[in-house]
Amino acid sequence: MTDPSAAAAQAGLKRVRTRHFQTAKESGTKITGLTSYDQLTAQIFDEAGIDFLLVGDSAGNNVLGFDTTLPVTIDELIPLTRAVAGAAKRAFVIADMPFGSYETGIDEALHSAFRFMKEAHAHAVKLEGGVRSAEQIRRIVSAGIPVMAHIGFTPQSEHGLGGHRIQGRGDQVEQLLVDAHAVEDAGAFAVVLEMVTSDAAARVTRELKIPTIGVGAGPDVDGQLLVWTDWAGFSTGRIPKFVRQYANLRQALTDAAVAYQADVTSGQYPAPEHGYTD
Ligand code: KIV
Repeated sequence: MTDPSAAAAQAGLKRVRTRHFQTAKESGTKITGLTSYDQLTAQIFDEAGIDFLLVGDSAGNNVLGFDTTLPVTIDELIPLTRAVAGAAKRAFVIADMPFGSYETGIDEALHSAFRFMKEAHAHAVKLEGGVRSAEQIRRIVSAGIPVMAHIGFTPQSEHGLGGHRIQGRGDQVEQLLVDAHAVEDAGAFAVVLEMVTSDAAARVTRELKIPTIGVGAGPDVDGQLLVWTDWAGFSTGRIPKFVRQYANLRQALTDAAVAYQADVTSGQYPAPEHGYTD
């Protein structure tokens, strides 16, 4: 497989690096991210100038057919991450560490992070948790692997948190700040704030030196991340209130499939021009 960094250099594109996240925060330039799980969307989002692509464990709900992210394994995410990393010439590619791949200790966390770097060609990893994951973050970073942290609503703890609940309300803001400082001190280059109140996110963003990336955290953060299948109107089911849909791909593909079915059954496709001649 082509080395993605070499391909980017050939195309004259400058790869987004962790230092660009930091300079973006310092200059007030907003950072953009989308999830991606395959080569084709990675190419499109990369060429559109999206700064980072997260190969999220949301692949569980959007690719692998699960109801939650909990069953997702490293072995399932590695081929998806490799496809995204191979396609992205400029965007920074972050692999999500799935549930059960880093919680039991430093050795497990390092082993999992190494797999994403060596086998999947990721540029960084993301893992959930504040204080509880700080030691893992510190050790992965000291091994030379950038880490994006993830606090607020952490889907891998959905059952422990009592469902999809907004975080950072009332007194919870203090714990959010403790978690945010813990991951910054551990060396994370950025932190995702998922489903936290806008006020709490603004406060964390003011207090931290590293950039905050909001997913349902309001406007006063340093960047935004959305799950691409929600953003493009491709997902089924309940779409979170914080998502703005930028396309209606589900409808477009349904219309195309219905038209194809009608054309084939009525004999309108294939037409003579679709056939080969001697
Ligand atoms: O897996 C994912 O897509 C995520 C984002 C929603 C933050 O973790």
